[in-house]
Amino acid sequence: MGRIFSGIQATGNFHIGNYLGALRNWVKLQDSFESIFCIVDLHSLTTLPSPENMKTWIREVAASYIAAGINPEKSIVFPQSAVSAHCELGWIFSCLTPLGWLNRMTQFKEKAGKHKEDANLGLYAYPVLMAADILAYKASHVPVGEDQKQHLELARDIAGAFNRQYGVEYFELPEPYILKTASRIMSLRDGTSKMSKTDPSDYSRIQFTDDPDAVALKIRKAKTDADPIQATPDAMKDRPEALNLLGIYAAFADMTVEEACLKFEGSTFAPFKKELTDQIVATMEPIRLKMISLLKDPSEIDAILKKGSDRANEIAIKNMNEIKEIVGFLRV
Ligand code: AMP
Ligand code: TRP
Repeated sequence: MGRIFSGIQATGNFHIGNYLGALRNWVKLQDSFESIFCIVDLHSLTTLPSPENMKTWIREVAASYIAAGINPEKSIVFPQSAVSAHCELGWIFSCLTPLGWLNRMTQFKEKAGKHKEDANLGLYAYPVLMAADILAYKASHVPVGEDQKQHLELARDIAGAFNRQYGVEYFELPEPYILKTASRIMSLRDGTSKMSKTDPSDYSRIQFTDDPDAVALKIRKAKTDADPIQATPDAMKDRPEALNLLGIYAAFADMTVEEACLKFEGSTFAPFKKELTDQIVATMEPIRLKMISLLKDPSEIDAILKKGSDRANEIAIKNMNEIKEIVGFLRV
């Protein structure tokens, strides 16, 4: 049985892109893999949230994992900051990562924007910590959305660099697990940019906290065009907003985009949007309600995270001891 590791940042505005690109797949995979699902709060620190928000968001993300169907009895669910191996291994990897590799990372370029000199070191080193997350557990597979592909390639390069530097075969290269469908959900306002937690417009994304009325409103306002839906995705390739909505429909209805296009061929967007809303609500509303009920008792969530942290530490400490031995640290 392989081992999967994945994580989502502890920030607000958790959205259906996170659900379809990551969380939903984790739920399916947890039966076939030993599974470790992390709330990557150290990564969120790159945006310096207030301590109050940090706490709230860690619990919210934990609640969303469980509400979406992650079984914490079976899978390990924990906050990254509770296992110090992530930072320790992150440092070791920093010393093996040429700056040239980091300079290629497109996410840093996007996030740092024009003010690269003001961006913090954490944002720059972000993918090195991510490699440490995965490799501290020697995970074999990493289920993520398409946007994380480059970071995973870097994690593989770092694993290889470690093995070469120390002449060992210690790390196996972790495999990305990126599904073809819904691996990149786009903004509801602009079909060429990815749905993201940080888009200033609330109307660009559907969040876990949106009730059915909010979902209906956001879908009604979602950008489309006046033409009817065409029979194939290829015919609609110059209509990114329209294609994105069909992609979302297909993902929630568990069909291919091709099937969704055929189903709605000739329809205008008004009736389609009604069906799309129903389809989203059917999946997301039970998750929202479960989240609300879980968040009523934070001590229950904290207990789950404590148990998850203990289990995660057990694996990571054992690996870190081996890694420190390989690196040559004196084991006093
Ligand atoms: P983040 O929001 O950056 O913490 O991402 C958490 C997970 O959600 C990662 O696996 C991402 O690849 C995935 N994800 C984020 N945004 C999207 C999106 N718009 N479409 C598909 N997957 C996404
Ligand atoms: N960088 C990922 C994102 O922004 C989150 C993340 C951190 C992650 N560490 C990870 C994902 C390890 C998979 C494995 O989405």
